[in-house]
Amino acid sequence: MIRYDAAAKIFTLSTPHTSYQMKTDADGRLLHTWYGRRLPDSCPDMAEPRAPHTDPGCWPDLLPLEYPAPGTADNRCCAVCPEYADGTEAADLRYASHKILPGKYSLPGLPAFRQDANAESLCITLWDAAGLQVELWYAVYPDCDLITRAAVLTNTGSAPLILRRAASACLDFSPRPLELITTDGVWAGERTPHRAPLRPGEQTIGSVRGIPGHAHNPAAILCTPDTTETQGEAWGALLVYSGNFALTAESCEAGTRLLLGIHPYHFAWTLAPGQSFAVPEAAFVYSRQGLGEMSRQFHTAIRRHLLRRPWADPQTPRPVLINSWEACYFTFDEQRLLQLARAAKQADIDLFVLDDGWFQGRNDDGTSLGDWVADPAKLPDGLPGLCKKVNDIGLDFGLWVEPEAISPDSDLYRTHPDWALKIPHRETVAIRRQYTLDFSRPEVVDGIWAQLQAVLNSCPIRYLKWDMNRSLANVYSAALPAARQGEVYHRYVLGVYELQRRLTEAYPDLLLENCAGGGARYDCGMLYFSPQIWCSDNTDARARMSIQYGTGLFYPGCTMGAHFSTVPNHCTGHISAPQARMAMALFGTFGFELDLTAYTQKELDGLTPFIAWYRAHGALLRGGDLYRLVNPDAANLGAAWMTVSHDKVEAAVFAVGTALAGSGGHCPRLVLQGLNESVAYTVTDGENTETCSGFVLQTLGLPLPGDYGEAPSKIWYLKQV
Ligand code: DGJ
Repeated sequence: MIRYDAAAKIFTLSTPHTSYQMKTDADGRLLHTWYGRRLPDSCPDMAEPRAPHTDPGCWPDLLPLEYPAPGTADNRCCAVCPEYADGTEAADLRYASHKILPGKYSLPGLPAFRQDANAESLCITLWDAAGLQVELWYAVYPDCDLITRAAVLTNTGSAPLILRRAASACLDFSPRPLELITTDGVWAGERTPHRAPLRPGEQTIGSVRGIPGHAHNPAAILCTPDTTETQGEAWGALLVYSGNFALTAESCEAGTRLLLGIHPYHFAWTLAPGQSFAVPEAAFVYSRQGLGEMSRQFHTAIRRHLLRRPWADPQTPRPVLINSWEACYFTFDEQRLLQLARAAKQADIDLFVLDDGWFQGRNDDGTSLGDWVADPAKLPDGLPGLCKKVNDIGLDFGLWVEPEAISPDSDLYRTHPDWALKIPHRETVAIRRQYTLDFSRPEVVDGIWAQLQAVLNSCPIRYLKWDMNRSLANVYSAALPAARQGEVYHRYVLGVYELQRRLTEAYPDLLLENCAGGGARYDCGMLYFSPQIWCSDNTDARARMSIQYGTGLFYPGCTMGAHFSTVPNHCTGHISAPQARMAMALFGTFGFELDLTAYTQKELDGLTPFIAWYRAHGALLRGGDLYRLVNPDAANLGAAWMTVSHDKVEAAVFAVGTALAGSGGHCPRLVLQGLNESVAYTVTDGENTETCSGFVLQTLGLPLPGDYGEAPSKIWYLKQV
């Protein structure tokens, strides 16, 4: 619901539990006055009473501007910075008009939360007299307390201007103690949560790697110091973008400003008179019931309003797949692949994915990227021949590609050396022995699209894994003049989106999984196209506990690529119990990534109950609400969580590792959440079934085995009697 009080000049956007408010002051500046708990329908003016130092007459530099620009008083981090033809870098944005529209606004060329009949949009137009118009777009989604924001910036002057900054959103908080949570990491250790009180000054996470990268995710939470999983205030922010980003929290006497959007490094976008620039979307959720509720609202928002159909629907089954990577790496021939497919069939797996190494001359990571033609030495009958044989075994077929990459040793590079990003007269940096294609150029996107179409039209490929194994470097486009080089990073991302748009529109039933050297591009921009993203190259159950916990702060489990793999784990050497590995894979998209040809028939038979369990409860796992019961600690000793259906009729409960272990024979208990306390549930762990009231489960909890240790983990299914 969006209301405008014309007399008081107040905009109030409300969802069932939250409100967001802005007000234009007497001089036409748009001020941010509230984001938090739902305001009464009378929409009180939250700008009053003001702290003395926010009196605009005295301290205009400390005003909580909704979309701040530099040079005309605001001296904190700014959202937009135009450089006009006379060299001034300033804007003084004043209210011009607004409109309230049914449904959801759209952003040309950019992924965004989707159209929804129950959404409502607001556009406020601000104007700087020197020639910049800012359309601030807002949408409210009532079913999940989601508020999205974006902006369209237009040059209304008579000379070109350069955008030096173009953030997605800015949020000002009045002075109060706040803590910042971000998810950060490294390759094989992505998205580990870090929480710390805000310190005075600016704190920024971000990326100038061309992709979000392993180090930081484009998402953050501000919360009060007392906020826990189940109580306290939390403001969550997500960026719907897959390139360079900056997320800054700045604290000073005026309070805290949270700013998120495209990173200003090497960003300079020229707007000719009349031209516009759309900034990527940001999305916000506010919770008064702690981090758990915030996560559940984000999960619902992503599942219902971002993911692509048919995969968005929890009832749409996702195939249980086997991926060849950890089984074979680059060393295979057709016979070896078919042996693996046969073993997978015996375990009742649905789909066989051929990972890296299938195309001409690709025997290690040093060659052939860009030449998307099957290697006859490995696949004598090409992809169609292999696909048919896999289908004959009874499995669907899927394939790996890395469309943005080009090997210096490839036919594509020999033919089009200028298609790689490279700075003239400098050595081009190879990372993982490969360059990156200049996706800012439409003809490069067209060239790769033609190759992908040839592959996808050659045989029934049901699943495609789109990988991206390096950061950008040498970012310079041979196709743009010197003055436009500051556009390359963003144009690159637009090129990636364009190719994924073509792919998903031309092959609507193709299951696309994004991946970037593990989980280096795990963001809402990618999720708009692919309903699942490979979470990490680290498939160790213990490591996955914290990676998937951190990922789950924002993104639902149904988006997390997660596979059961062998022990000792290829990344960590750690040995974890099969049930722990199963639990972590079931938390996500559930697949396998190991050499099943080394399994005995008995071992293969041991996998099938889990696959059957996933088939039986997949819709619950994909569509239910997540409750985190025990979070993994720094030592990664254990975790427990549960997924409850919206109607609270059924639930799946997982407990992994040693953190919950009792001592001296004492049986610890796991107290559940999210259930209906006034009904009874049957509780089954696969061997025993008991009946227990929801009240007892949420007070006394489930008994854990006394010898609960690293080895046994527990998985329960609960159903209302
Ligand atoms: C990185 C991915 O994360 C892996 O799963 C695998 O596909 C390799 N790339 C292949 O090169």
